[in-house]
Amino acid sequence: PLPGAVESLIAKMSVEEKAGQCTLMAAAWAGGAANALNPITATATFDEQLADVRKGRLTGVFNGNGARMAQQMQQAAMNESRLKIPLLFAADVIHGFRTVFPVPLAEAASFNPDVAERSARVAAVEASAAGIDWTFAPMVDIARDQRWGRGVEGAGEDVLLGELMAIARVRGFQGSGLDAADAVASCAKHFAAYGAAEGGLDYNTVDISERTLREVYFPPFEAAFKAGCPTVMAAFNEISGVPATANPWLLDEVLRKEWGFDGLVVSDYTGDMELIGHGFAADEREATRLAFMAGVDMSMQSGFYIHHLPDLVAKGEVPMARLDEAVRRVLHLKVQLGLFDDPFRRINPEREKTRVLTSANLQVSREVARESIVMLKNEGDLLPLPRSGKKIALIGPFAQGKHDLIGPWNVYGSDQQAVDLLTGVRAAVADPSLITAVDGSAIEKPIPGGIEAAVAAANAADIVVLAVGEGQDMSGEAKSRTDISVPAPQRALAEAVAATGKPVVVLLRNGRALALEGALYDAPAILVTWFLGSQSGPATADILFGEEGPSARLPVSFPYATGQQPYYYAHKSTGRPNPEGPLIPYKAHYQGVPNKALFPFGHGLTYGKIKYSGLDMGSAKLSRGGSLTVSATITNSGKYAAREVVQLYVHDMAASITRPVRELKSFQKIALAPGESRKVTFILQRDDLTFIGTRMEPTVEPGAFQLWIAPSAEADGLTGMFNLV
Ligand code: IFM
Repeated sequence: PLPGAVESLIAKMSVEEKAGQCTLMAAAWAGGAANALNPITATATFDEQLADVRKGRLTGVFNGNGARMAQQMQQAAMNESRLKIPLLFAADVIHGFRTVFPVPLAEAASFNPDVAERSARVAAVEASAAGIDWTFAPMVDIARDQRWGRGVEGAGEDVLLGELMAIARVRGFQGSGLDAADAVASCAKHFAAYGAAEGGLDYNTVDISERTLREVYFPPFEAAFKAGCPTVMAAFNEISGVPATANPWLLDEVLRKEWGFDGLVVSDYTGDMELIGHGFAADEREATRLAFMAGVDMSMQSGFYIHHLPDLVAKGEVPMARLDEAVRRVLHLKVQLGLFDDPFRRINPEREKTRVLTSANLQVSREVARESIVMLKNEGDLLPLPRSGKKIALIGPFAQGKHDLIGPWNVYGSDQQAVDLLTGVRAAVADPSLITAVDGSAIEKPIPGGIEAAVAAANAADIVVLAVGEGQDMSGEAKSRTDISVPAPQRALAEAVAATGKPVVVLLRNGRALALEGALYDAPAILVTWFLGSQSGPATADILFGEEGPSARLPVSFPYATGQQPYYYAHKSTGRPNPEGPLIPYKAHYQGVPNKALFPFGHGLTYGKIKYSGLDMGSAKLSRGGSLTVSATITNSGKYAAREVVQLYVHDMAASITRPVRELKSFQKIALAPGESRKVTFILQRDDLTFIGTRMEPTVEPGAFQLWIAPSAEADGLTGMFNLV
């Protein structure tokens, strides 16, 4: 309906119906009852939820059970509720729906936003066919502490990469427009600074400066909103003493007044209830009032709004105008999604069967997966492997079997429908009988006789592919780790296999950056394969055997040791820097560990032989209203085609607010045939050099800057100085 129709609908609604529009619950099958942290919702069976729909006490459900369930609920809303307001169906579609894509951190490694847009598009097409209108994605939290488990859902440590991936995902989810039957509305989460949890402990306190919020944690949200993201989820954490879910500065001053965001704010799962746990609200009623008045329009899963808002309004503690404002936002989203025109537009059980897991979708998943694999090392050009004539032993807990393939936080996908490494490798070689597989160890426990079997397999082979790392329940929500190395039994396995003297390719499975040591670090070749989704095995084989070359880059720095966390390349210098040289006493570093990464952000090798030369910075002067054109020549003198991610970093030498040692300002992913040279040109604008100044405002200060065009955040690359005048 037109806005006027929304207003006349609001005018007809009872206070309880209004509170109902602001109440979202987990669908009964997804644990509306079983998983409820809150006794209020612990009785919600499917029939009870249907009864609530008929009474107008529910705006919709999330993580439901497909089109039939949605159909039944929508019919109840449209035929049996007083005002016939369509329900909204939400879901966590984080990295694919039934066709599973690499975890978002892996997709960020592609350094190719088109990859994230493609995968989000396929996910939206599949999810919308199953009745889903709204996804709780993208997760745009910057994550700089690898102990935190939820970094796997985001784009890593860097602001620019985070912004670009956020935009790409919003575009992919929303396709040609929110009202399209194959679009799902996106939701930027978790606002804000959820990734800055102290000690990397999920849900923990965030105590942070406003400047860091504005420079690091806010920009991907702003980027998502500019790309048309209509909703945002409040974070679980507190920020400097005030929980994000009841934070008027965050949700009103910044989000509404400063950025002009007019979409919907939803709480996280029982986020309003958790105000009591934070020690911020005394009881449920107060928690409801604080969250609602701070700006959370919709409550997820606690049931607090439907239970307490009517009375709070009746007693004058919550103005009716605020309730109307929240309802207006909910109804507006339903209008944007075309639900008033056709409440069943995304609910089609037939389409649900034919649109998912198609061969075209699986092919996109495979392409995205191989573009997500990062090659850390390739000594002696061990990779790519020959497709024939060599016996290859796949060793490790991730060598075979339908487990730990799709990665954490995938509600609708299944490892059973994914392809493992052994199957992928056997399909890629001339003689599959030359490929053997042995676990050697479980993920976190030794297997009796496992190492002996692995050593025997290695001895009988020409080459070992050692598939080790984290299980998929070792990253994700509430999966913080105190030690980010590969679990000890697998390290023991790696040492024993290395001792055979066979050439070893380490394949890492991981949802975060890992601290690598011993045989895992010393191996001649290392590939980071994250969790790649439905086509994990075939995509890995594509890279192993050179069907395609690796072209991804680390979106997170791999540290020397867990104790270095948080480590991120864009750190400040300290007054006693010494990142490169010998470990000099009284300079900034941990004992025995340089203050740099083992493998930095942006690092990743190709099968080409890449050389950077000919830095040209023109006048090396950036004047008011102007720009600086910077170029370099990138050459591939190898025999394989390569895709190189050419990165431009800057450092402001002296500023009124200290600046990071390097900041990524631009990058280009270019294809180079064997023997090809290409000139890559970047245009740097004044705005690229802005920082949040002493008055909390974007500031540009004249002065000297160092610039690098380099293959990673800590590589020397090509460097020069320029002046901002
Ligand atoms: O969307 C998620 C959120 O990221 C974490 N808590 C639960 C929500 C709904 O499943």
